[in-house]
This record gives sequence, structure tokens and C-alpha cells, in this order.
Amino acid sequence: MAGAGAAPLRAADQSEQPLKDIAGARGLRYGSTAMASQLLPGDSFTDLLLREAAALVAENEMKWLHMSTARFHSDYRVADCLVDFAAAHRLLCRGHNLLWYWTIPAWFKELSDRKTARAALLRRVTDMVTRYRGRIDSWDVVNEPVDAAADRTDHLRADVFLKQVGPEYLALAHLAARAADPEARLVLNECGVEYDTPDMDRKRAAVLDVVETMRKRQVPIDALGIQAHLAVGRYPFSEQKLRDYLARAAAMGLEIQITELDCTDDLAPADIPARDRLVADEYRRFLDVVLDEPAVKIVMSWGLSDRYSWIVRHENTLEQRRSDGEEERPLPFDRDLKRKPAWYALAAAFAHAPQRERGARREHSPSVEG
Ligand code: XIL
Repeated sequence: MAGAGAAPLRAADQSEQPLKDIAGARGLRYGSTAMASQLLPGDSFTDLLLREAAALVAENEMKWLHMSTARFHSDYRVADCLVDFAAAHRLLCRGHNLLWYWTIPAWFKELSDRKTARAALLRRVTDMVTRYRGRIDSWDVVNEPVDAAADRTDHLRADVFLKQVGPEYLALAHLAARAADPEARLVLNECGVEYDTPDMDRKRAAVLDVVETMRKRQVPIDALGIQAHLAVGRYPFSEQKLRDYLARAAAMGLEIQITELDCTDDLAPADIPARDRLVADEYRRFLDVVLDEPAVKIVMSWGLSDRYSWIVRHENTLEQRRSDGEEERPLPFDRDLKRKPAWYALAAAFAHAPQRERGARREHSPSVEG
């Protein structure tokens, strides 16, 4: 049911139920990204995260570039901290990510033969998944592998993996991940599928095509990740197109995860109440549609508080920064950890979501993968 009307503007109230409980009552997992440096005993943000979130994903610390110290070598200590923190607090832990063209160590790009590159890629996947076996609910195996504009029938992005290993890298990575932890869910995580533009039409079609091909070739995949970096006022939205995308993924037997939910406000007015309402409305419109699809089982915010957001740090694209110099307000809590209208939009969307079920670990379907 698509929501109507403006987001309620209520003052922060400590007695509100945490988002994780409102979502949890519907069988949904709600969580957030965080950095290891933001998780400190007794810290007010850490307390907030533990109150609101039932799932955790590392913002950067599990990316290959951030872990790699030398050819074939990684430092696992910071990634360990995050996984240990999740385990200690019984948070479901997502693994983000095994491979992403954006964060690749220079030495991998410089390898001069395919055999070594393939071995390096497989070693990265196998080492990571083995180390955290049993502790990661779902892995983003390849982050953003699809390029709908690519002049390729397989729709794969012409990235470093294609260049160094070849188009079989996607299947190789998924097979290696499955072998290393057969119970972890394997996710294909993509951006740019949320709105109604010709580019995003093509992207949705391309992603579904890629997944369909993986299915046909018996390449293991369990879930589709929708990053959901929303943007106030930037693109038209089609409820129907989004519903169709979700339905087609669900019909292939895939779980769907909202993996990186946040919302830019550079096209919204400076006035804070007006801006916060537009951000909340953007969240509500999106979530009302996606939560109607029972295959959606996880919603992760890309940060809980405006205190810690890549949008506020201006690590996203240049054109999505406010030109008036005002600080962006993309997340459910403000800098002072007070609930914003966005929080109430998430709470309302979760509260109205149809009930769903989800097992603790991946259910095996040996008949599909042989
Ligand atoms: C972002 C982090 O939030 C930033 O701190 C970093 O500078 C760049 O990466 N899609 C993804 C995430 O899959 O890994 C990205 O995270 C945001 C876009």
C-alpha cells in the first residue's frame, strides 16, 4: 500500500520501540552499516546502534583494497573486530563485499597473466568466506557487476575482473563462495534500479538477465541486493516498475535485500523541517512498495545517524552535494542522535509490512546446484 500524506513530525521520545523490534515483529531484519571506529563501549552512537539495529555490515573494512597489505596478503584485524562485535551482540552480519571494481588493490590490477589473476581472485573469495564461515548471513559476492550500457550481451561491467580474469569471474567467485560456506546466502548487490528512468529500465532488465543466466548455468545465487541510495526530487518513480522488478526476482526464487538505504537531499530546500519531510516521504514511498513484496527480508540503512554518513562526508558523487553548503540530512537520526521524520517513515513502513518468514541460514536446494 503506497503511503499518502506527510511524515508525522514528532519529538524524539525514548519510549518509542526500536526499529529492529518494529521490523522484527513482521519477520523483517533491520540493520545498519557502521565502521569499526564508530563502535566503542559506552559510546552514545554505539548504544543507539545496539538499540535500533539487529544487523550490521562493515562500511569499508571488508573491502579488498582496505584489507590488502601486499600481493596475496590481507590484514583481517579490523574486519575481525566488526564480525566479533556482531557476534558478541547477536547482530546478524552481512559481508560487504568480496569483490567490487571500485576497491581493488593496485597489485591485482597490475598482474600480467590470467592464471595468476584468477588464483588471486579465488584466494580472496575463499580466504574471506572461510575465515568468517558460519558468522556471515549473506555475502555481497560481486558488488555492482552489471553495466546495462555495456556493449556486451552478458551485461557485465567492463571492469578490472573482466580484464584480468574474463567473464567467467562472476561464476567462479560465486562457486568459490558457496564451497567455502555452503550456508551463507550469496547476493548480487546492485545500484541504480530504484527509479523510473530509461537508464534504470535498462539496468533492471540487465540485472534480471544476468541472474537468469546464472540460474540457467547453475551458478549459486540466493539473493538480489538493492542498494537503494534514494534521492529527493532527482528522478521520477514508478511503483509498478519497481514492483515488477521485485516480483520477477522473487519468481526466480531469490530473496531480496535492501542493502544500503539512504537518501540525498541536495535538491530539497534548506529549511530543515521541509527538507526532513521530503526525505521521509522518499523513504516511505520506496519502502511501501518494496515491503509489500514478501521476498524482501532484510533492510539495511547505510548509516543510522547523519553524524556518520558517506553523503555528509561528501564521498558520493559530486552532483549530489548541496550547493548551499548546508549539511545533508540523509539518515533516520540527526547528528545529535535524535529521531527525524525519516525514522518515523521507516517505523510506519515496517509496522504496515506484511508478515514474512526467514530461516536463520540458507536452506539447501541441492537439486538446483547439483
Ligand atoms: C561507500 C562508503 O560509504 C564510503 O565511506 C566510501 O568512501 C565509498 O564507499 N555502494 C556500495 C558501498 O556498495 O560500498 C559504498 O560505500 C556506497 C555505494
